[in-house]
Amino acid sequence: MRLARTNLYLLGLAATATAAEFNPTNNTAGYDTSRVGPSNANCQRQTYQLDITSNNVQFQNVDSNANQTYLTALFQTFTTSMTNFTQMYEKPDKQAVHNTYSLSGTLCVPKKGAKDPSNVQYLLHGVGFDSSYWDFVPDNSTEDYSYVHAAADAGYVTFRYDRLGTGLSEHPQDAYNVVQSPTDLAIATKFAQMLRNGDIGNMKFNKIVGIGHSYGSVQTQALSAASPDLLNAVLLQGFSMNSTGQGVFLPGGDYQPAVAVAPNRFANKGIANAYVVNQSPYTNQLDFFYFPYFSDAALQRSYDTEQPATQGVLFTQAAIMQNATGFRGPVHVVTGAQDLPFCNRDCYAVPRGSPFPNIPAYVKMLYPNARNFSVYIPANTGHGVNAHYSAPETYQEMLQFVDYAFSL
Ligand SMILES: *[C@@H]1O[C@H](CO)[C@@H](O)[C@H](O)[C@H]1NC(C)=O
Ligand SMILES: *[C@@H]1O[C@H](CO)[C@@H](O)[C@H](O)[C@H]1NC(C)=O
Ligand SMILES: *[C@@H]1O[C@H](CO)[C@@H](O)[C@H](O)[C@H]1NC(C)=O
Ligand SMILES: *[C@@H]1O[C@H](CO)[C@@H](O)[C@H](O)[C@H]1NC(C)=O
Ligand SMILES: *[C@@H]1O[C@H](CO)[C@@H](O)[C@H](O)[C@H]1NC(C)=O
Ligand SMILES: *[C@@H]1O[C@H](CO)[C@@H](O)[C@H](O)[C@H]1NC(C)=O
Ligand SMILES: *[C@@H]1O[C@H](CO)[C@@H](O)[C@H](O)[C@H]1NC(C)=O
Repeated sequence: MRLARTNLYLLGLAATATAAEFNPTNNTAGYDTSRVGPSNANCQRQTYQLDITSNNVQFQNVDSNANQTYLTALFQTFTTSMTNFTQMYEKPDKQAVHNTYSLSGTLCVPKKGAKDPSNVQYLLHGVGFDSSYWDFVPDNSTEDYSYVHAAADAGYVTFRYDRLGTGLSEHPQDAYNVVQSPTDLAIATKFAQMLRNGDIGNMKFNKIVGIGHSYGSVQTQALSAASPDLLNAVLLQGFSMNSTGQGVFLPGGDYQPAVAVAPNRFANKGIANAYVVNQSPYTNQLDFFYFPYFSDAALQRSYDTEQPATQGVLFTQAAIMQNATGFRGPVHVVTGAQDLPFCNRDCYAVPRGSPFPNIPAYVKMLYPNARNFSVYIPANTGHGVNAHYSAPETYQEMLQFVDYAFSL
């Protein structure tokens, strides 16, 4: 396989130079982003300009720079009365939103033992993270928690990007009508098309396995439903159709403006108040971790590198999921046994007489025509799967599914 690194580099520079307001030296990630990828892969990080049109939810009575009291009132209404929330803050009609966004994506090609270079794993991170979720390094001593490393070891190319409003990607001012799930789905769709068309790293990919975590799984699910031919297989990590635990996630996470919680990382970067993060490492723990099955370093790293989510994203997450009747590839769900938002901390708590053995297995109902549907529930694991001690073992299980999916 040949990867034209020089060309990629030049493309990266060219892409950045045409960006009107986005300056990559203005590090919006708020931490040292000098790590581009694991030691066993050649990784190329690049800024892409994507021309995106999406059919968005129209919010009303909101202000991206509202104060904390006002933002808290929205959370309160959202978590207690959806009917009231919809009436007060959403208009009945959707609106078309068109913009060009700067997005930072990273392609990693194994240094050794590469398998078929026309196969790619397409990785979408969730709320609280950026694409470094897939290259998680709790401290500088081990790469065992890096999924990109595990994938490269197994011979696979990966592509991941920082979702709009996270990491090194652009942070639009409008945290409601612009940065929300239909925009994210349109971006995820565009990147998948670019992977197919050879627009990323000059590599044309014939087979794509879409892999998400949490809100990244929501987008992957929506992508497989809306564009069933773009993905060959789907792996949904940290996911289910049961929303009981979501009612704990937002209030328990105590989401507050990133600029107020961590001014050292986020102030003076043009980030609006309605971009929110967990108020402390412990509210981050409450949502993402299962004690004591993670290291202190993993919790600290997760908090130190935490990325904001907009209220627009948090309030529209469920809007894009739909029945993927047209999807015919294999589907695999991997959710930690003690996941809070998607299993309310017990993935086996199905109702009496349930046709399914566990909560993630209900996802099968969204895939009536999938070629194969399977579930893996790592023990002693919370929502932030990649940050738990179980991660290396979970990656081997995920990669078995990936092997199978690419063999079809
Ligand atoms: C926050 O904003 C609301 C609505 O604009 C206003 O009523 C309230 O006084 C403000 N509170 C503070 C502490 O600024
Ligand atoms: C919903 O709105 C109604 C009418 O304004 C109000 O009486 C009720 O208390 C609200 N309920 C909640 C849970 O916010
Ligand atoms: C890891 O390395 C980075 C970059 O060299 C450095 O900024 C960071 O402090 C190190 N972290 C730890 C936990 O040693
Ligand atoms: C970073 O970029 C934002 C948005 O373009 C801008 O408002 C802010 O002033 C910049 N900060 C620095 C330190 O350049
Ligand atoms: C959804 O989760 C709740 C809380 O764990 C559980 O009680 C309920 O049985 C689950 N429902 C289904 C359909 O799995
Ligand atoms: C999805 O569609 C299939 C076929 O129309 C139907 O059997 C299934 O119940 C639907 N699933 C959901 C979750 O609506
Ligand atoms: C279904 O998928 C699993 C991987 O998750 C694979 O091991 C198994 O062989 C597949 N079953 C069939 C019938 O293809």
